[in-house]
Amino acid sequence: MADSSMCNAKNKLEGKVAIITGGASGIGETTARLFADHGARMIVIADIQDELGRQVATSIGVAFDRLFAINVRGMAACVKHAARVMVEGGVRGSIVCTASVAGSCGGKRRTDYHMSKHAVIGLVRSASVQLGVHGIRVNCVSPHGLATPLTCHAYGMPADEVEKLFEPQTPLEGVVLRAGHVADAVLFLACRDSEFVTGHDLVVDGGFLIR
Ligand SMILES: NC(=O)c1ccc[n+]([C@@H]2O[C@H](COP(=O)([O-])OP(=O)(O)OC[C@H]3O[C@@H](n4cnc5c(N)ncnc54)[C@H](O)[C@@H]3O)[C@@H](O)[C@H]2O)c1
Repeated sequence: MADSSMCNAKNKLEGKVAIITGGASGIGETTARLFADHGARMIVIADIQDELGRQVATSIGVAFDRLFAINVRGMAACVKHAARVMVEGGVRGSIVCTASVAGSCGGKRRTDYHMSKHAVIGLVRSASVQLGVHGIRVNCVSPHGLATPLTCHAYGMPADEVEKLFEPQTPLEGVVLRAGHVADAVLFLACRDSEFVTGHDLVVDGGFLIR
């Protein structure tokens, strides 16, 4: 049974340094705020929003090569360079990637997006095997659909309508997936609560995948 005092424990990241790619919006922004609440010493937000504008933030609707450049090659570069710094600094760090439920199922549409998220999970699994020798953990979170600037823009709907679109797809009733749920999963994978967890895809999907 869950211990509420553990759920509420603060400062799980005291003194830690976090780099959050995509931290200017949506899941990344909420995660950055949660990490700050948990005492992270420094949070570096690595985001392209300033340079390229919001239209680039949506991976839904971009061409195949661009989608793979962002979701796969960009993610692989982040893992590689973060790991290199950790290895050189002797840091037993934690890398958390964002995949999606689309990385574990097929879809009637958006083959490119499903392919790219399958690739992220493959990256996480391989990197976890290769970096384990350095004490570095590599995991990912896989949300079901939720209302963020990305999905609101992609569907051309306000947040409440996007939520109504996704809600019937999950068997878990009475709760709507929000960025805070995903940030909680990221925090778990980033801190010592998950000290022996690596190579794991933590789905945050209200039971969508097992239905
Ligand atoms: N929203 C959903 O329904 C959902 C579901 C499953 C998975 N995801 C995944 O979650 C991640 C975040 O999505 P979100 O919904 O929070 O979107 P969002 O658009 O709200 O935020 C994404 C942020 O990433 C930034 N970004 C885009 N490309 C970048 C790059 N190359 N380098 C650095 N920053 C970059 C954008 O500027 C933006 O600030 C994505 O990987 C998405 O595929 C989202």
